[in-house]
Amino acid sequence: MDKIRARIIGTGRGVPEKILTNADLEKLVDTSDEWITTRTGIKERRIASENEALSDFATIAAKNALEMAQVKPEELDLIILGTVTMDQPIPASACFVQHNLGATNAAAFDFQAGCTGFIYGLSIADQYIRAGSAKKILLIGGEILTKVTDWQDRTTCVLFGDGCGAVVIYAEKGERGILSTSIHSDGSMADFIAMTGGGSRIPTSHQTVDQRLHYIKMKGNETFKVAVRRIESACRESLELAQIPAEGVRWFIPHQANTRIINAVAERLGWPEDRLYINIDRYGNTSAGSIPIGLDEVVRDGKVKADDILLFSAFGAGLTWGSSVVRW
Ligand code: ACO
Repeated sequence: MDKIRARIIGTGRGVPEKILTNADLEKLVDTSDEWITTRTGIKERRIASENEALSDFATIAAKNALEMAQVKPEELDLIILGTVTMDQPIPASACFVQHNLGATNAAAFDFQAGCTGFIYGLSIADQYIRAGSAKKILLIGGEILTKVTDWQDRTTCVLFGDGCGAVVIYAEKGERGILSTSIHSDGSMADFIAMTGGGSRIPTSHQTVDQRLHYIKMKGNETFKVAVRRIESACRESLELAQIPAEGVRWFIPHQANTRIINAVAERLGWPEDRLYINIDRYGNTSAGSIPIGLDEVVRDGKVKADDILLFSAFGAGLTWGSSVVRW
């Protein structure tokens, strides 16, 4: 008898209209288009305006995904949102999305896994579906990182961008859907990517504002060194679990943190350029948003067909990392 699988039946994205180019950043900090392009692959990124928040873009992404899936909001059992940049600390931004959509039958919660949010979300959705606890799930990954970016810090402000992606996941019998997920963490490197102010350890105060503790800080070089190896091992693990050889992958859609990381992983796994999806040049690092935004572009551009094997992978704050194999 066919197994129940979690199949992605709709994708969507919601990104701000406003564009910030490398030339714009040259006016803010001591940097250059040449440095940003060669070190990261980024040319421009989208940034939310003052009155825009995460759930605005999460809702747009969700509506687009629901429309493609031909699923009504009231049919959803669960809405899960991976993010580190909620609208506000309490309540969960997923509840704002639930209300905006009119998804009256859905439970809703946020979860946090840094840039690995979408992969963790696939894993959560896969467990709910295979356990029979949910039939239709909306998974959103997204971030408004530019609101926790220190615009005086050239080592981070050139990297981040804003945007959300969403998928509708459906319980279906057959061979198509999520074939495997592998997720990992190592909190001994928690200080590599962190925002230390505003929690229960260092509550918000005048001092935390003065000390700029409400911005993301990153040890970029240290992070880079561990990223390639961890992403490679997670990709190999999820392929093995899915029993798919590396050459069977049609699209490698990785988290977009740095083209040098993506190319290094692709080289280790033997994938030519035409199997890699890279859009970091247009969006920068949108953390949990990057994979579902990339997936939506691939799908809407007609570049993926039934039964194609897609491989997702990510690495981020926590540290967390993971990978997932999907048969489209
Ligand atoms: N413009 C010009 N020069 C700069 C800039 C800039 N924007 N930023 C740093 N530099 C300088 C540094 O000061 C340093 O100068 P020095 O040699 O005189 O000290 C030099 O450039 C090299 O700096 P590195 O940090 O060694 O540069 P690196 O090649 O490592 O690139 C980067 C930095 C792009 C951040 C890279 O390390 C990286 O991509 N790291 C991984 C990031 C990642 O994967 N993060 C996980 C996801 S993020 C999340 O979870 C939210």
